[in-house]
Amino acid sequence: MDFLEYIENRSNENLEELKEFLRIPSVSTKSEHKADIERAARWVAERLREAGFANAEIVPTKMHPLVLADSLEAPSGPTILFYGHYDVQPADPLEFWTSPAFEPSVREGKLYARGTADDKGQVHIHLKALEALKKSKGKLPLNIKIIIEGEEEVGSVSLWDFVARNKDRLKADALVVSDTSMLARGVPSVTYGLRGLNYYQMEVTGPSQDLHSGTFGGAVPNPITILAEAIAKLHDKNFRVTVPGFYDAVAVPSAKERKAINSLPWKESDFRKTVGARGLCGERNFTTIERIWCRPTLELNGIWGGYTEEGSKTVIPSKAFAKISTRLVPHQDPEKIAKRLEQCLRKLLPKTVDFRFEVLSTGKPWVAPFTHPIFKMAIQALEKGFGKKAVFIREGGSIPFVTQMYDTFKVPCVLIGFGLPDENAHAPDEHILLENYFAGIKSMAIFYSSLAQI
Ligand code: BES
Ligand code: MN
Ligand code: MN
Repeated sequence: MDFLEYIENRSNENLEELKEFLRIPSVSTKSEHKADIERAARWVAERLREAGFANAEIVPTKMHPLVLADSLEAPSGPTILFYGHYDVQPADPLEFWTSPAFEPSVREGKLYARGTADDKGQVHIHLKALEALKKSKGKLPLNIKIIIEGEEEVGSVSLWDFVARNKDRLKADALVVSDTSMLARGVPSVTYGLRGLNYYQMEVTGPSQDLHSGTFGGAVPNPITILAEAIAKLHDKNFRVTVPGFYDAVAVPSAKERKAINSLPWKESDFRKTVGARGLCGERNFTTIERIWCRPTLELNGIWGGYTEEGSKTVIPSKAFAKISTRLVPHQDPEKIAKRLEQCLRKLLPKTVDFRFEVLSTGKPWVAPFTHPIFKMAIQALEKGFGKKAVFIREGGSIPFVTQMYDTFKVPCVLIGFGLPDENAHAPDEHILLENYFAGIKSMAIFYSSLAQI
């Protein structure tokens, strides 16, 4: 297989090129990075052109541009859509990075920078795999469509609209995505399920302005106390969510699936080490892996209000705020869950305060069978590329586009992750193991070339 030699010979060049990509701070959530977002989109389009996708183009949207390309030179071959995202999460808190977030640095076989694992490093794996195939064979043995977006980390807002209006352009026999994780080091994995995500913000208002706590304290509603009380009631002692109806539609995994996921080569001790807390906790009667992959949750993501600066200030604040999210599993309906949470909170709050509840985004879960032959080919390609046994897993994170593609086209979605759960995605010192980056390029080249025969 000469393309493997091509890849091997280009290891250094590929790594240097990835570092270039990582130096662009394409943070999608902050408007000050708009120019960087555009630079990253151009960078991706240029690399695609160099890889042989002559028609790579940048499609503007209401928010951040999409990068699209295709190569349709295999009339009898299948058509695969590859999806990834070039946007990244903000780098802060900056002071916890060992080396600066946008200055890639290699230490002990790991490449550190924002976006290494999520998702620039994984996107680059596919660019380099496809380039190797195209350059060593002259043309690709299958049809490839590529869509790389810049809004994944903010909920893929513009993509909804684009997919709805451009079905023909995106239609394919299967979707391939690398934006997930491997189960553990040395265990290449194909993910067949993700949780959905709803995100909310709430605001509780007591007094119409801040008050002196000596003059007024004891006789007025304190929005922080009231918010905290309501939040504390959202779980019971067994870590179950108390929102009425929250579990109504939840599909419990079959005995067979539970057995399969609980016998994967996964160590709770590694998980505990990554977490770094004194202990773990979660819903009764479920294992840790079931809790994160198969059970819905309600999480507090942020809570603020009142005086939080240096020293003391005796004040009763006018307002208190919280950011809340729920991870959803089949067959929970995101809209219904949002309504139920809002109703529940309204009931929990006393009449002495005002309440604003905002649904920032909703997203359905995705779990699908992996019986289509393409899944076997993915496993085989991973086993060749890594020289290790590959497994099927579910994960707890969310990728809105996967659900949307599956619902729109009902095609197999093959999620092949090259990140690791302890690689600090969304956190300081994000990194990717170089052995996974390099084995990833090889396995994806093997995978794409094997798909020509599907
Ligand atoms: N790559 C992640 C999704 C992911 C994380 C999949 C962990 C599997 C395991 C993606 O970039 C992400 O962070 N998604 C967000 C949701 C999005 C709507 C902001 C998430 O899961 O919080
Ligand atoms: Mn991602
Ligand atoms: Mn992410």
